Amino acid sequence: MSKTATLEIDGQKYEFPLITGTENEVAIDVKTLRGATGGITTIDPGYKNTGSCESGITFLNGEEGILRYRGYAIEDLAEKADFLEVAYLLIFGELPNKEQLDKFHADIKEESVVDDDIKKILDAFPKAAHPMGVLSSLTSALTAFNPSSVNVDSEEDMYKTVVKIMGKFPVLVAWTMRKKSGLPLNYGDNSLGYVENILKMMFEKPNEEYKQNEILVNALDKLLILHADHEQNCSTSTVRIVGSSHAGLFASLSSGISALWGPLHGGANQAVLEMLEAIKEDGGDTKKFMAKAKDKADPFRLMGFGHRVYKNFDPRAKIIKVAADEVLGDLGIEDPVLDIAKGLASEALSDEYFVKRKLYPNVDFYSGIIYRAMGIPVEMFTVMFALGRLPGWIAQWKEMRARKEPIGRPRQVYIGENYRAFKALDKR
Ligand code: ACO
Repeated sequence: MSKTATLEIDGQKYEFPLITGTENEVAIDVKTLRGATGGITTIDPGYKNTGSCESGITFLNGEEGILRYRGYAIEDLAEKADFLEVAYLLIFGELPNKEQLDKFHADIKEESVVDDDIKKILDAFPKAAHPMGVLSSLTSALTAFNPSSVNVDSEEDMYKTVVKIMGKFPVLVAWTMRKKSGLPLNYGDNSLGYVENILKMMFEKPNEEYKQNEILVNALDKLLILHADHEQNCSTSTVRIVGSSHAGLFASLSSGISALWGPLHGGANQAVLEMLEAIKEDGGDTKKFMAKAKDKADPFRLMGFGHRVYKNFDPRAKIIKVAADEVLGDLGIEDPVLDIAKGLASEALSDEYFVKRKLYPNVDFYSGIIYRAMGIPVEMFTVMFALGRLPGWIAQWKEMRARKEPIGRPRQVYIGENYRAFKALDKR
């Protein structure tokens, strides 16, 4: 017999089914609550207790530090797959075989040119514009050059739309950075791998040949994989809710980019580096800032430490720490800011305050360090996060449409004024 939950209000009992996921997560299905109770609703700001959907894409367990895409452990994917394979897995549900992967890459390359008029839009932005605002606008602008709606019931149409955005998005990312750095806009090289091509597009100088660095290719590949999906976070939920009105994929992605921008979400990696810079400017005394972070009267927090969901460790941080060590070691980078980062991490890991509260360096702490070592400007860090998250957003949007989910439209509890008679202007 299927299990139910009973809710009692004023002596009246209501039964609701329990839904159990494949990893034994249990949820109370309250779809019939308002109808059964005559309009009673639930309230849960921040949706900390509310599942917005059933999803078969990503499983995470914060207590045990588990993260899996389509059932595959993040550790295995980061070690054994590349970003394009992971993107295919997230979007289409299975790891591609060689033929599928080659076709996927070839089709993406076919679509890796953007309409030249996009350059005019980019040109209109001031150089000081934040790259996330630029990227969100350019992604939205893509709808003007490509059909905004896609026949989601046609596998072929969906596939074409997916390869289109996978091909064009890295160009927009690279152009956003090049505009900021004052470099001429370029295109990639279709003979390169997906990630190598991104690096070339971002860093190539007009007067010298770009040389690939395998350590950087490997580190970026891993970073993109680790950021590729994280179930129903703020930006992903945004993509799903915008798409639930049947807005097009590119418009939905553009909204997701805006959601990711904030410092409480994707913007944290930028905040980490800004904090490290500030510590350096102040004289580099990490102990002073550790004390500030522990002082309850001081609002300062160590950015890049702690996580809402992962309370023991962030499995992504474990993987990326190794890549960060490789990048810093192999490139022989000497950077006082990175020394401060290392110092803070080792002090926090042995400090009672941090250990007791299970505050460990999170993925943003190490991603910021790697991006800095790669020479990516701080304001571009969140753009790099968006680049990695792209396949996750696409997969979640596709799943939401395929499951024919209803339009996202939460309820509220009104706490404003009761009815008031209108007062004419001269009586107020
Ligand atoms: N520095 C110092 N103290 C901290 C920190 C920190 N970074 N994070 C949490 N604490 C302390 C809190 O003061 C609190 O202490 P108390 O129990 O004595 O009151 C305790 O640890 C629990 O903190 P909460 O804020 O309740 O934890 P929550 O789960 O709500 O917050 C969050 C998680 C927002 C990530 C928090 O740890 C934080 O602000 N970290 C810094 C910002 C950051 O790195 N964000 C990126 C997250 S990763 C991502 O988005 C991909």
